[in-house]
Amino acid sequence: MIIERAAALRGTVKVPGDKSISHRSVMLGSIAEGTTYVRGFLNSADCQATIACFRKMGIRIEELRDSDGERVVAIYGKGLRGLTKSPDMLDAMNSGTTTRLIAGILAGQPFDSFITGDASLRKRPMKRIIDPLSEMGCHIISANDDNCLPLKISGGDLHAIRYHSNVASAQVKSCVLLAALYAEDPTFFYEPSLSRNHTELMLGAFGANLKLKNDTRTGEKGVIIYPGTILRGQNITVPGDISSAAYFIAAGLLVPKSEIRLTGVGINETRDGILRVVRAMGGDVRIQNVHMEGREPVADLVVRSSELKACSIGGDIIPALIDELPVIAVMAACAGGITRIRDASELRVKESDRLRLIVDSLRAMGVTVEETDDGMDIYGMASQKERVRGPGRLGLLQGAEIDPHLDHRMAMACAVAGLISDTPMIIKDADCVKISYPRFYSDLDSLRVV
Ligand code: S3P
Repeated sequence: MIIERAAALRGTVKVPGDKSISHRSVMLGSIAEGTTYVRGFLNSADCQATIACFRKMGIRIEELRDSDGERVVAIYGKGLRGLTKSPDMLDAMNSGTTTRLIAGILAGQPFDSFITGDASLRKRPMKRIIDPLSEMGCHIISANDDNCLPLKISGGDLHAIRYHSNVASAQVKSCVLLAALYAEDPTFFYEPSLSRNHTELMLGAFGANLKLKNDTRTGEKGVIIYPGTILRGQNITVPGDISSAAYFIAAGLLVPKSEIRLTGVGINETRDGILRVVRAMGGDVRIQNVHMEGREPVADLVVRSSELKACSIGGDIIPALIDELPVIAVMAACAGGITRIRDASELRVKESDRLRLIVDSLRAMGVTVEETDDGMDIYGMASQKERVRGPGRLGLLQGAEIDPHLDHRMAMACAVAGLISDTPMIIKDADCVKISYPRFYSDLDSLRVV
């Protein structure tokens, strides 16, 4: 894919449905009693992997149209104990969320399951879920004895645990909360900072009994889940994914003379770190038309070109912007001053080692970046004024050939960089965006002012 510099971006984009919420709607819908109807479901490779896994375990999932012609995914749930053993391996493909959340559900089933994924997923750490699930009494074997996929999960009756996770990971938290539905007593889960809370919100809507309880002594964020309630099918409208909106937020801020409206974007406070960072960098993003979709807050975002200044990003905000850091790094590369990112070592175990790839990609674009164990310092090289005024290359990133290593978020972040590059940005294997945003390039093109 070749991305050329844009003179200005204008228009409206409705970004696709939230990936995290779409996965959870299929999972909870499958183990609930009755039918769950989902509008705004993200039709991407990752979410299709989740659907395929539940179909293999005997759940009927259909795509319907409502009377307005809108796409609705219907999940005919069979209750907590209604899944059946898959005839063959479950394949989570590229999706960490599918793997780690399903593992929690499989841990409670009275049959053996086998789960694997693609080459990238098979390298990602699973010890973080093997440990708590084993403590709950589930027997898990990593086929290659490396705490990675493929896993054999032999589930059954589970015991409740009090678990202190050393990573703030919504996938670990959700895995434990889902397994806890199959335990006899309440399970307590603590994490160092609050990770995205979609599982807690959606479990509550389906009828589960949960309570938030922080540990005032350690500062950990906690949730207690009481098993024994029946989950009931729901009508769900999935908000637009703020992680997908992030690319347009950055593009609108960086490309001169731009104004972009993003409609129906989820602004859950466990996900809105990018909005807080944009504010700290002096970016003009207005939040309008705030309303609720079920238990999730949603808004329209209006983004205008802005002069950005550097900022420091670390600590408790990291889980609220973890997937946005590649594109935040592109913004930092174009801001005045040095942006420091810390406490982000989780980026090393995503779909790629994103810290390393961000550093390598920005360097290829002519940016000075220093890598640390858990982040980087980015020397902002361009300012908006220079881009507007400057003849030739002044204030622009250098065009480069980028290999995103099949990581969808790296491909999209580098495409945004292409909008403000002197020569075209060439993105290798660009169709990896199908993992979370299949229409990304056409939505981006639709905003170009010619
Ligand atoms: C997700 C949680 C995050 C995030 C991922 C989706 C989820 O991962 O990076 O894209 O839906 O629970 P971690 O839980 O590993 O931080």
